[in-house]
Amino acid sequence: MAIQGVMRPGHFQMRVLDLEASVRFYTEVLGLIETGRDKQGRVYFKAWDERDHHSLILRGAGQAGVDFIGFKVTDKQTLDRLEADLNAYGVKTERISAGELLETGERVRFEIPTGHLVELYAEKSHVGNGISYLNPDPWAPAAEKGIAPIRYDHCLLYGPDIDGARKIFCEVLGFYLVEHVLLEDGESDLGIWLSCSNKAHDIAFVRHPEPGKLHHVSFLLESWEKVLRAADICSMHRVKLDFGPSRHGATRGTTIYAFDPSGNRFETFSGGYQTYPDIRPITWSSEEAGAAVYYHDRKLNERFLSVVT
Ligand SMILES: [Fe+2]
Repeated sequence: MAIQGVMRPGHFQMRVLDLEASVRFYTEVLGLIETGRDKQGRVYFKAWDERDHHSLILRGAGQAGVDFIGFKVTDKQTLDRLEADLNAYGVKTERISAGELLETGERVRFEIPTGHLVELYAEKSHVGNGISYLNPDPWAPAAEKGIAPIRYDHCLLYGPDIDGARKIFCEVLGFYLVEHVLLEDGESDLGIWLSCSNKAHDIAFVRHPEPGKLHHVSFLLESWEKVLRAADICSMHRVKLDFGPSRHGATRGTTIYAFDPSGNRFETFSGGYQTYPDIRPITWSSEEAGAAVYYHDRKLNERFLSVVT
């Protein structure tokens, strides 16, 4: 097995204002599958082609935003090793016991310098994707309900010290820089796109004065046509689009941005290139930062830089 250490983004806990309205939204519009509810009242979802028990967790709260994001690591030994590596690097960690999240093993939680809580875990119950592992069909009926993304893919987080976050991800957790957008000084970064796999990004950050903010949580679709279909479904449900259907310059993904009923921005996207750790990072100059985000408009709008939860 070549993918070792941190394998992929695995879960994302988000705060929503009206829990039941949000459950309807994420099942009927997004087309995610509800997989459980816990004693704290949190609701768990997976995308149809994900095999593990859940990827999105919603918690009812007075303010929208992100509670924490989790990455799945190869195995328990890797979890122990990465915790020791984080501690040796000066990052304090906390162990959260198995079962605190439904069907999930022990988690190692730490705060990164952008003010976000990040977790690593090695175990989550397998529930499958509704397709057999023997002589499978290409898709299940759930692949046609709502927008029906394949999986939770990444998130874009906003916070002050993105350089400190990048160091932890790249120097301790094995991520690498894929693309970055420079500020006017031509040296420091406005935004960074990091990968732990051969995806163009597994997480991204934009520099922002307030800590712990969410710009968007993103779900993967199979094709540009499905991005258009996602925009159609949003319009059918009177869900306001923030952007698109269009293309990002950075990562080349085709995309729409829209808002859930609590104002959390989500993305459904397709495409983007595959990369490897030996490929040189792509740089966007500050003058072309607009094209990095909105490739056709080539201008950053105020919402991209300021509307976060
Ligand atoms: Fe994204």
